[in-house]
Amino acid sequence: MSVQRPLQLLTKRASPSHLQHRPRIWQPARTFATPGMVVPPVTQNNTGAKGPTAMVFMNMGGPATTDEVSGFLSRLFADADLIPLGPLQNYLGPLISRRRTPKIKKQYANIGGGSPIRKWSEYQAEEMCKILDQTNPETAPHKPYVAFRYANPLTEEMYGRLLEDGFGNGRGGRAVAFTQYPQYSCSTTGSSLNELWKWRQRMESPTRNQNLEAAEAEGSIKWSVIDRWPTHSGLIDAFAENITAALETYPKEIRDSVVLVYSAHSLPMSVVNRGDPYPAEVAATVWAVQQRLGFKNAYRLSWQSQVGPSAWLGAQTSDTVNNFVKKGQKDLVLIPIAFTSDHIETLFEIDQEVIHEANELGAEGRVRRAESLNGSPTFIKALANLASEHLANDEVCSRQMGLRCPGCKNERCLASKKFFMGQGVQNNAALTL
Ligand code: FES
Repeated sequence: MSVQRPLQLLTKRASPSHLQHRPRIWQPARTFATPGMVVPPVTQNNTGAKGPTAMVFMNMGGPATTDEVSGFLSRLFADADLIPLGPLQNYLGPLISRRRTPKIKKQYANIGGGSPIRKWSEYQAEEMCKILDQTNPETAPHKPYVAFRYANPLTEEMYGRLLEDGFGNGRGGRAVAFTQYPQYSCSTTGSSLNELWKWRQRMESPTRNQNLEAAEAEGSIKWSVIDRWPTHSGLIDAFAENITAALETYPKEIRDSVVLVYSAHSLPMSVVNRGDPYPAEVAATVWAVQQRLGFKNAYRLSWQSQVGPSAWLGAQTSDTVNNFVKKGQKDLVLIPIAFTSDHIETLFEIDQEVIHEANELGAEGRVRRAESLNGSPTFIKALANLASEHLANDEVCSRQMGLRCPGCKNERCLASKKFFMGQGVQNNAALTL
């Protein structure tokens, strides 16, 4: 269920006062803006179209080169939404990130010198926007942006580009924050939204945020959010396609006895016990994929990449695989189920650590991995379908987004949820519990 934008807000945004000094023609940008590039300003045209629309892909990101590893890790360990280290966060965060930098640099060197997540995110966003320009002419042109939480382009860089491109700061315009984490966690999507809210406050004049009606009148960017999509049918199709392709690498006579091991990034138990929705949403994705595959293969969901000595959600992927292999179940397909493209956790942790260790235990190359979604045309079509529906229905966000974790004590969550829900809901008090 989603929350829809009241009509009067949309009509106000397209008011002729926003149009007076703007050129009427927009050429859809097919490439990402680079510093120094001349970009035409946003125009809300006067024929009833609601575009242009900024489509912002939010994700954690990854260092594109080994030189960026240190900055990436220091941002990551400073984020209490992702890795809660308690009152000593500001001391422990930098300490842990400094200690881990040399080891993580080697891992990125081993996967080709950097993370491919930026390349894939930009490609997916651009391809999706091309489809949206055809399917949703009323909000066209759709302009792709990427905002990473811990690596370039950071949220503030993306926001700067939006302003340079003519959105906001008195000129209005619509932007969709589209999480690339299909399953919602306050550690991932929640953290990205809190960051987006922070930079929106800083970069579009804080005084405007005292009063949403005034903000609207002054032409701030109007945000809506695609905050979760764990069982979207196109996403499930894309996963099922890649799993089927992996299963086809096994001889036909043993194919149905291959065990599917779905692997998602783990969470600290302190986050799980706070009531974070992620474990349930990941399980929903797994169940939907299994249904699409007709439950032909037995499966398990396991969790990877835990950091530090505190308790994290298990069973761990590496233990799960090792235990299966030791018991004689060597035919296993590993499926990254919570990320939309390759990253260090697939290319290094699964491919070079988990599978290597399984082979050392005697798996004989029978533990394999399903390809990540990356450039899958089925996946890109799914992104476009999801966004198309969101735009056509004038959704603000899912109704679920207004509900905080039962154990949440973070005032930023309350403020950012109120802000994003307030972008279209007149009375949101009851929704941000
Ligand atoms: Fe989940 Fe704040 S930690 S809503």
